[in-house]
Amino acid sequence: MHFQWYPGHMTKAKRMMQENMKLIDLVIELVDARIPLSSRNPDIDELGRNKARLILLNKADLAEEKWNDAWAEYFKSKGFLVMKVDSRKNNGMKPIHGIIKEACKEKIERDRKRGILNRPVRAMVVGIPNVGKSTFINSLAGKACAKTGNKPGVTKGKQWIRLNKQVELLDTPGILWPKFEDQKVGLMMAFIGSMKDEILNTEELAAELIGLIGQHYPGVLEEKYHLETDPDAYVMLGRIAESRHCRLRGNELDTEKAAVLLLDDFRNGRLGRLTLEYPQEV
Ligand code: G4P
Repeated sequence: MHFQWYPGHMTKAKRMMQENMKLIDLVIELVDARIPLSSRNPDIDELGRNKARLILLNKADLAEEKWNDAWAEYFKSKGFLVMKVDSRKNNGMKPIHGIIKEACKEKIERDRKRGILNRPVRAMVVGIPNVGKSTFINSLAGKACAKTGNKPGVTKGKQWIRLNKQVELLDTPGILWPKFEDQKVGLMMAFIGSMKDEILNTEELAAELIGLIGQHYPGVLEEKYHLETDPDAYVMLGRIAESRHCRLRGNELDTEKAAVLLLDDFRNGRLGRLTLEYPQEV
């Protein structure tokens, strides 16, 4: 399978990112907890140098807890502040305020030494498409937060959301482009649904996922779909089709439909909490 990304989008996203970087002190980077490596773009380390950095393992509810913890340790060991997040849960956002404050401690201290008091830290959320940036911003900001800027008669420009006295958040997230040079990254992105399925061969993708799940989570598919195991992923796909009554008109097995069903079950957590990348592979 070959994955492509459109250079036009990429260039525009990068330019926007560079412009916005000039305005901020803190980068809040969202990664997908199921694939924390593939859902990062390492260019962010270069773009965000000299900025305070926070990595959020988003969709932590869909990934296995022990691996969430292992990834948190991994990123901490690289010098990042890290937190596990389920952005759809508004009530899980309280600890984020604390860690944002911690991430900005140095900057606030630097300002204080220069005699600059009460200048809010400015932050931007960044991440690849579909990682949950908008969901996170909505949960974090809630309804109560007043927007600043772009008021009539007031400074024109970016929209900032005041989280509290100390922190303002840019209301539009920075889009990072997935790094497709490595085909494995493309595959991982396709598994989690961060790529249009129309451009993919669904059965091939499902077969790859069956192989990976069989390797790291043996028994999960067998239990979920009530089937006998088989080392051949395509045989497994056929068995899923059988078990889920995916049939074409002539009663032939509809493996295409089974593939869609499997991918959908995985993406929505119906196969349980599954992590597809592990820190020891780095
Ligand atoms: P983006 O701005 O980075 O492109 O991502 P966005 O917030 O649009 O989120 C993409 C999808 O991921 C949404 O689902 C959203 O609900 C889901 N999502 C975001 N954060 C989390 C999380 O922490 N856990 C889980 N389980 N899901 C999360 P969708 O199906 O596209 O939309 P909807 O059905 O929620 O409306």
